[in-house]
Amino acid sequence: MKIVFFYPNPDKAHQWAAQLKAEGVEFEAIFWQPDQTVSADYAIVWLPPEEFFTSVQDLQAVFNMGAGVDALLNNKYLPADLPVVRLDDAEMGLKMTEYVVHAIAQITRRLDQYTALQQQKVWSGTADYPYFEKWPVGIMGFGRVGQQIADVVHALGYPVHTWSRTAKTAEGITCHHGQTGLKEFLRSTKILINVLPLTPDTTNILNAENLAQLQPGSSLINIGRGHHVVDNDLLQALDSQHMAGAILDVFRTEPLPSEHPFWSHPAIRITPHISGPTHAAKAIQQIAQRIHAQQAGLPLEGVIDRQTGY
Ligand code: GLV
Repeated sequence: MKIVFFYPNPDKAHQWAAQLKAEGVEFEAIFWQPDQTVSADYAIVWLPPEEFFTSVQDLQAVFNMGAGVDALLNNKYLPADLPVVRLDDAEMGLKMTEYVVHAIAQITRRLDQYTALQQQKVWSGTADYPYFEKWPVGIMGFGRVGQQIADVVHALGYPVHTWSRTAKTAEGITCHHGQTGLKEFLRSTKILINVLPLTPDTTNILNAENLAQLQPGSSLINIGRGHHVVDNDLLQALDSQHMAGAILDVFRTEPLPSEHPFWSHPAIRITPHISGPTHAAKAIQQIAQRIHAQQAGLPLEGVIDRQTGY
């Protein structure tokens, strides 16, 4: 069996290959280079260049070393019938949950204020009790990651609303769905968490019209994709003080260009796409299990639906 690897930093691709061998998969490793045509059974990649798929032949499947498959699906050379396998979590959901809990505390406990006060050596606690029930949390995207976030945020005591494409139910959580459920979801939300997959239907979903539906003084935590947000609409919602703040981990262009107004906006906090890192060893373990199963004649697990895009 031959497996071709691509990661922007080649050292990491070599590490993945060694980890996959340690999981008992027997294969010849190929590390993709431009201008070289290769034949391989599987590809294991993160953000491969466009021409990757013009130069790799005979693939049975491509494994994406992340949860979001949007970049792969946007590759115009990706063969239409090639199974694309996404990672099923591999601890990413918990890491994103940890990020979200921190971000929620930053908003509801006004933690930024204390960083500023420390600089002035001022000891000044807030008199207001931060009631959980005053901060309804809305989670857009209720798949594996959204569910983990919802469970933890609900366990803390926040009212939790979710929005997804299709109808879902979960105990103690108010689930909304579809175009018809979107307005009510947004109107119920004071802290909006975006973990949607990026598809043609969800691109630009956080636009002026939808942000206007959020409760006054609301905040956005975006750990989905930058293309979910219309940047200027978010800036306007913040500048008009309809929204109080945004904690952003993902951007339309990454790295975020230095001239982008998000960098210096007082109500925006930026992290450089770190909320859901891939735990390489767990991801490779999952891929190894899937390859072993397919080799044993079982169906390949984790293949995304090309129609819905996730
Ligand atoms: C990271 O953004 C991922 O999709 O895994």
